[in-house]
Amino acid sequence: MNTWLAALAVLALPAAAQQRPAAAPFTLAPLPYPPGALAPVIDAETMTLHHDKHHQAYVDALNKAVAANPALAGQSLEQLLARAASLPPAVRNNAGGHWNHSFFWRTMTRPGTGGAPSERLARAIDAGFGSLDGMKTAFRAAGTGRFGSGWAWLIVGRDGRLAIASTPNQDNPLMDAAEVQGMPLLGNDLWEHAYYLTYRNRRADYLDAWWQLVDWAEVSRRYAAATARSSSSGTTG
Ligand SMILES: [Fe+2]
Repeated sequence: MNTWLAALAVLALPAAAQQRPAAAPFTLAPLPYPPGALAPVIDAETMTLHHDKHHQAYVDALNKAVAANPALAGQSLEQLLARAASLPPAVRNNAGGHWNHSFFWRTMTRPGTGGAPSERLARAIDAGFGSLDGMKTAFRAAGTGRFGSGWAWLIVGRDGRLAIASTPNQDNPLMDAAEVQGMPLLGNDLWEHAYYLTYRNRRADYLDAWWQLVDWAEVSRRYAAATARSSSSGTTG
């Protein structure tokens, strides 16, 4: 039994759906707040298009791709991610797109209301990056350094330590295909559809402003869950 895999589902799903990982057909949950809730950091039009059009398209394409591959019937999203390297591109890309966006919406809250990292997470950030600002600097470098579209992540690596990672396209650190694998704590969408209406080509400005939205209570909860699992499966936390 892969305890790491078994626990992944809780990260991207609302509490009510955390008992049983969903399999196809996959559905799009509503945003956990009104589309204008994140303004002025992310404007309402961007949020509406991003969720209702882009995320919906990933869900629809994923269902279509899974239906075309009967061997994948009944697989949860997390099971698909764990074997992404051997999946058809349409399944890999759209499974990633669905998971990444579900996770992204629940990483954010109204500007300035997200609080601070828990004491334990703050200590891990200090140990890994010197300070919270040090972590943000490393995250910014990963985000601006990603050529084309992709994601920047703060993760708990397989060694139990915090790390910054970036993935191309709709890949993520849960995939067996990822260069740096681990449990995501937070992730930011580097696709232009996430920021272009407000920030145009200024990805760095978007990355800097985005910290105002991070829901540190949620991120701290994820850290506690990820490190509890690491300890129980024999790695250090
Ligand atoms: Fe996106």
